[in-house]
Amino acid sequence: MTMRSLLSDNSRYIESFHVFLKNSTEHQCMLEFIQKTLPGIISSIGDGKSPLNVLSIGGGSGEIDLQILKQIRATYPAAAIHNEVIEPNGEQIRCYQEHVAKTSGLENITFTWHQETSLEYESRMKSSKEMKKLNFIHMIQMLYYVKDVPATIGFFHSLLEPGAKILIMILSVPPSQTLRDN
Ligand SMILES: C[S@@+](CC[C@H](N)C(=O)[O-])C[C@H]1O[C@@H](n2cnc3c(N)ncnc32)[C@H](O)[C@@H]1O
Repeated sequence: MTMRSLLSDNSRYIESFHVFLKNSTEHQCMLEFIQKTLPGIISSIGDGKSPLNVLSIGGGSGEIDLQILKQIRATYPAAAIHNEVIEPNGEQIRCYQEHVAKTSGLENITFTWHQETSLEYESRMKSSKEMKKLNFIHMIQMLYYVKDVPATIGFFHSLLEPGAKILIMILSVPPSQTLRDN
């Protein structure tokens, strides 16, 4: 799927993505990773800090993001968390906001959504000269849509505070090959 079709035909993209999720073990694997492995990864990010600044790049409709936030919340129950989301697809942002409204256990977590691509965010940050420092950044299943992957990772890596982590998840085979035969 090209970037153009991804962004210009929202409903078709979202429908296709949900069919993919239903027919793959992708989300199940990610949830297992979030429950079992993520706690070890995020054990360095807090260190008495509050708020913890989290950046989700290509957060989609937020299901995975909310699971990640619950783990951060469980690891750092006393810290306030600010979760910023970069997501170019407006429909996905609306779904994300609905998920947040319906989900309990998100007390003391604030959300900001930016309808833009990672490159637009990068340009905006560079021109505002307000380079944020972040405690945890994640890019889950979104690097496929970025033109210059090393430059993108390099920019976001430069926003990490000491002890902070960046989490990248991508499939090792194209999504079409991970679909189960029906
Ligand atoms: C496959 S979905 C993954 C959504 C979510 N992270 C998950 O795992 O459920 C990819 C997301 O990246 C977003 N996206 C596409 N191009 C992007 C870009 N250049 N910068 C940021 N996000 C992008 C899409 O709109 C979509 O919501």
